Amino acid sequence: MSAMKFQVPRGTFDVLPELAQTRQHILQVVGRTLARAGYGQIETPIFEQTDLFARGVGESTDIVQKEMYTFTDAGGRSLTLRPEGTASVCRAYIQHGMHKLPAPTKLWYVGPFFRYERAQAGRYRQFSQFGAEVLGSEDPTVDAELIVLMATIFEELELGNVRLRLGTLGSPETRLRYRSTLQKYLHANEGALSPQVRERIALNPLRAFDASDPATQTVMKEAPTLLSELDDHDADHFQTVRAMLDSVGVDYQVDPTLVRGLDYYTQTVFEFCCDDLGAQSGVGGGGRYDGLIEQLGGAQAGAAGWAVGLERLTLALAKTAHTPHEISPELYIAAISSARKQEAFELTFQARQAGICTQLELGGRSRKGVFKHADRLQTQKLAVLDGATGEPMLLRDMESREEQTVPANEVIATLLRARRGL
Ligand code: HAM
Repeated sequence: MSAMKFQVPRGTFDVLPELAQTRQHILQVVGRTLARAGYGQIETPIFEQTDLFARGVGESTDIVQKEMYTFTDAGGRSLTLRPEGTASVCRAYIQHGMHKLPAPTKLWYVGPFFRYERAQAGRYRQFSQFGAEVLGSEDPTVDAELIVLMATIFEELELGNVRLRLGTLGSPETRLRYRSTLQKYLHANEGALSPQVRERIALNPLRAFDASDPATQTVMKEAPTLLSELDDHDADHFQTVRAMLDSVGVDYQVDPTLVRGLDYYTQTVFEFCCDDLGAQSGVGGGGRYDGLIEQLGGAQAGAAGWAVGLERLTLALAKTAHTPHEISPELYIAAISSARKQEAFELTFQARQAGICTQLELGGRSRKGVFKHADRLQTQKLAVLDGATGEPMLLRDMESREEQTVPANEVIATLLRARRGL
């Protein structure tokens, strides 16, 4: 029988060290930016009761209709691997009575999410998001602050070529009014719509704006937009968000057709897109969801938030910005003779304790191989131990190519002195 070769499941991937480093760098910037703005980190379980997502994300969404990883556990409960974070954060807000805390509650999270989607570049079945949610406020300042925080994170990461699409859905009543206006328009043009869009006129007419079919797109260019149905309160809310973004120089395009794949949004919606990413251009998005907490059993409370896909962001960064390099060591220690392996091991331990960034030779390289590897590692210094125990070792400065012979017990002191430029 031939040996079976295992591969990662479709739509998943391994994070190898180089990628891990980029992801860690991103998350450092994210954590720092959000912590400074007073956001606390929250972790929720990777699976929740299926009903939480069915009700929270919305029965008519693609996510709930066909993308959830749902299973029955040994106790007969229906559980689902979380497809997104907002419903879980609202569940935690309600469960822990966070509405009693000084409002609003500002939270952020990072972790894996799961959607059974057609896998392609930038679209996976297990992916990572970091997100921020502000619960317990209807103030449009929240929407603006959240957007500016996402823009700040992207700016700090030197992400180029992103644009911000900004829209509004108004209140649920506005949306209902608009929905019927749009349904009338779609029915009047039914003949030109793709079958998929036609089927969804009753359930989710807004998705017609999202269609890739050219004939449908032509029809949608002339479609009435929600902006014309906004009432005074909706229009004020949107105007305030815009004025705040303008005041700090965050550019955006008002996009009345911006559709998000989740049902809970009200008022402001937004998405950052990177056109270098092709079809999956949405790097991060979010909006306000004033009805969700109540819908999940809590008291009525305004809330808004966003999430960014870590993989899409990483892809976009690779196209537009330089990624951080591997950490090059200050010291690389190699024992050539086996008699000195233990000494090299001890010295590595001591150097690390002294705060020197040190790598130990672990590949059994020859003297020549060690010098070559020292270049590859871009180490500042190389310490070579050869001959018998206790003999002085060779310490080479890789930049100046200077070499000195140093007694074993003085290597660390020599390095620390060199660090201070002595
Ligand atoms: P979302 O737009 O569904 O929003 O996802 C946010 C981001 O996650 C997307 O912009 C994308 O970068 C990434 N993403 C989504 N699906 C995939 C996938 N299959 N593969 C790779 N990346 C993906 C939400 O999830 C909302 N919970 C955002 C939010 C928070 N709204 C309010 N608060």
